[in-house]
Amino acid sequence: MVIFGANGDLTKRKLIPALYRLAYERRLPPGFAVIGNSRTAMSHDDYREKMKQAVQDFSEDTPFDETLWGDFASGLFYEAGDIADYACYAAIKVRLDEVESARQTGGNVLFYLSTQPDQYGPVVARLGAHGMHRGNGWRRVVIEKPFGHDLESARQLDRDVHEVFAEDDVYRIDHYLGKETVQNILAFRFGNGIFEPLWNRRYISHVQITAAESIGVEDRAPYYEKAGALRDMIQNHLLQIMATIAMEPPAVFEAHAVRDERAKLLRSIRILKPGEVASHAVAGQYGPGRVGGAQFLGFREEKKANPESNIDTYAAATFFVDNWRWAKVPFYIRTGKRMAKRITDIAIHYNDAPHSPFNAAGMEESVWGTRPNLLILRVQPEEGISLRFLSKQPGSGMKLRPVSMDFKYGSSFGVRSPAAYETLLLDALTGDATLYTRQDMVEASWQAVTPILEEWSNRKFVFPNYEAGSWGPAEADEMLAQRGHAWRTP
Ligand code: BG6
Repeated sequence: MVIFGANGDLTKRKLIPALYRLAYERRLPPGFAVIGNSRTAMSHDDYREKMKQAVQDFSEDTPFDETLWGDFASGLFYEAGDIADYACYAAIKVRLDEVESARQTGGNVLFYLSTQPDQYGPVVARLGAHGMHRGNGWRRVVIEKPFGHDLESARQLDRDVHEVFAEDDVYRIDHYLGKETVQNILAFRFGNGIFEPLWNRRYISHVQITAAESIGVEDRAPYYEKAGALRDMIQNHLLQIMATIAMEPPAVFEAHAVRDERAKLLRSIRILKPGEVASHAVAGQYGPGRVGGAQFLGFREEKKANPESNIDTYAAATFFVDNWRWAKVPFYIRTGKRMAKRITDIAIHYNDAPHSPFNAAGMEESVWGTRPNLLILRVQPEEGISLRFLSKQPGSGMKLRPVSMDFKYGSSFGVRSPAAYETLLLDALTGDATLYTRQDMVEASWQAVTPILEEWSNRKFVFPNYEAGSWGPAEADEMLAQRGHAWRTP
């Protein structure tokens, strides 16, 4: 595996810890090797030391084993070089040949692009120019998100990548698809006979997808200033979750079949007309406030942030899927930094019973205000599924109260769930693209957010409009209230 951007945050926090975990589980072949590239001058040993520290810092639930690390590190190499410079590729090529014969890799190479996104196209072109896209074994390329900055740049990037690699060798990563709980949505929906009959507009009032983060933008203000929450989370991760919730059942669980259904769903998302954006999407930016007892700065005061920034650190949108299953069912999606807590979940709100024979006065006020039947799929943390329904409260009289049936991964399986990057890296190495996105999916999700992005880029917002530690701006509550709905507090 060749990692471009090998000294970056993603490599340290996710990639190397995931590979170490795979090594720990003996799921990598003995000859497996990594060649890291970045600009910083470093020896192989310096790089190994750095990555050892990364594993110790970020592989929280994997015991650190010196002997195993020694074996793993003997396959770690480092080639300093500027990716804009042709000599860099020549050096990596020589190293690849050496590794191939010394470690008997069979010539299979996975290139992983974790550089600045504007470098994806140029790096692929240079791999092609050096003939590195062909070899004795297979050659594949993994491209980190964001895949493009908008629809047009995503199309251009795709053309650039296809100049060199065939579609079957291109792996566009969206790490949310690798999360166990997101994969489990498919098992839950299509492995059971009892939920799917109720999974449509006749029984479902609306769906809420929440991805709240308590962290701020950390050191990423410059990236964030160009991206914003809508691009950073909704265009990719959350629309993919929505597709997983709403897609039709594939006939077989196989890459083409699953991706065809996801793509079909994404293409059915109604595209907003310019005049509809204001009532269907809300942008927010955090001001100062308290999260979990600590006081935090507002976004505009963060390190390297623009003090007059107009960018969204919170985004909420209402989407509709124009097909028979989902006609008129709103899908509300929201995400934000510095919110009350870190939680990602999906709440399926069912319609009320058509007629309640129970006296409204016998129910708690709060029950009337919410739909009693709610299915919650918790992606993180405390992964699990809960079904809420009304039950008779013990005692005299017919008083009803909501209760829930809970499934928790931790207690049901008693084993650790693999991190998304472990699953996805192993899939790319074994050539399984089921959990990777495809170009038609990427384009359809860009299409769905384009009207919002366009309108927001021309608008001057009155920011900040939500306090750090809150659940987002009041306008987002109004967006749901127009349809008689309300955000639940996860
Ligand atoms: C990344 C975004 O894709 O996903 C980050 O760029 C975000 O801004 C992250 O924090 C969230 O991922 P996770 O797995 O921690 O929910």
